[in-house]
Amino acid sequence: MIKNRIWFATGNKHKVQEAGEVLTPYGIKLEHYPLERIEIQADDPADIAAYSLAQVKDPRPLCVEDAGVFIDRWGGFPGPYSSYVLKCLGNPGILKLMEGEQNRKAHYVSAIAYRDESGVHIFRGTVDGEIGDSIQGTNGFGYDPIFIPAEGDGRTFGEMEPEEKNKISHRARAFRALAEWLTE
Ligand code: IMP
Repeated sequence: MIKNRIWFATGNKHKVQEAGEVLTPYGIKLEHYPLERIEIQADDPADIAAYSLAQVKDPRPLCVEDAGVFIDRWGGFPGPYSSYVLKCLGNPGILKLMEGEQNRKAHYVSAIAYRDESGVHIFRGTVDGEIGDSIQGTNGFGYDPIFIPAEGDGRTFGEMEPEEKNKISHRARAFRALAEWLTE
């Protein structure tokens, strides 16, 4: 299913930047399809992405991504509620709720729903890490200043250069899986 141009429906420019950098080495150009998504609530980000994709009536090869941060000690919360929790509490509120907590393990999940003439296909990526105890760094977006990836050197994603985050991030992994499938 070789494709050299696909559209990414999102309202988040950071996501377009990150995903575009992942796809370029595969010879795939990522076009931004501006969209403020209508999100359903579901446990699995893949179901949320697939629902949002179904709302976009466009015949071109197109994808939607849904992501979230899952905190072990909270049974995976906020997960699919990540944007609502960030909006209500912000990173300072999350840190406050986690004060004194020893188990700070968390992971990010990204799920892409991609559609072309062959149908809808799902691609996933995850990255393990932990919630730091303070806000560090100004790069990235969302939870990046409090998320410390396990594969790193103790810095948060917010302290990393974009290409460092893009080596190991949940989104990079999901888009790499999509790119490999598209260029198979
Ligand atoms: P959504 O995929 O746009 O619904 O993302 C849900 C929430 O998770 C939003 O608040 C995002 O800011 C946050 N989020 C998603 N991906 C990332 C990431 O790569 N870094 C930091 N926060 C993220």
